Amino acid sequence: MAKKDRNAKAPTTERGNLSAQPRLHQSAPEIQAYGTVSHMLPLDLEEPVRLEMTEQLNLLLADTMTLRDLYKKSHWQVAGPTFYQLHLLFDKHYGEQSEIVDTIAERIQLLGGVSIAMAADVAETTRIARPPRGREEVPVQISRLLDAHQIIIGHCRELAELSTKLGDAGTNDLVVSDVLRANELQQWFLSEHLVDAPLVHAEQPQLRNAG
Ligand SMILES: [Fe+2]
Repeated sequence: MAKKDRNAKAPTTERGNLSAQPRLHQSAPEIQAYGTVSHMLPLDLEEPVRLEMTEQLNLLLADTMTLRDLYKKSHWQVAGPTFYQLHLLFDKHYGEQSEIVDTIAERIQLLGGVSIAMAADVAETTRIARPPRGREEVPVQISRLLDAHQIIIGHCRELAELSTKLGDAGTNDLVVSDVLRANELQQWFLSEHLVDAPLVHAEQPQLRNAG
């Protein structure tokens, strides 16, 4: 098979350089390095503040992407008598976390930063423990999800304080209204599944003067 010449010019037409041929396999140096922010933006927020905020938000983003994926893993791999309700609940939370991912990522970009995006970079950055590839039982799945929520909720509280201190009200609002509140609610829905409540027979109180 003849080797394709990647530098070959697209065939030209009578109209000079105009051609319907797509110019494939292009590459060029990146236009902004990860970990930097654009210099001048009409945000009235100093560059060091935006650097600090985007660094913190990228940590929050990496953890949120990991939690999002942990929900999909749990949605697919769940087993047992509560399969159907958990299968649906995990996917609902997955969808909500996906929206949060987009909200955080776009805040990083609008602050002039660069959002972390790819799985390999996320895996290197997240603080959430890596689960095994195989299936785990429901209480273990839920415990993992709750541990992940706790990491994110703790970081949200720190970030809420820091953003207020640095004068970044927009990040404060996002962290509290979008991320913290949603995570608090989701952990409640999960935690209730780990309460050892009877399914069929109510617990009988001990007879006081028995015997
Ligand atoms: Fe599904």
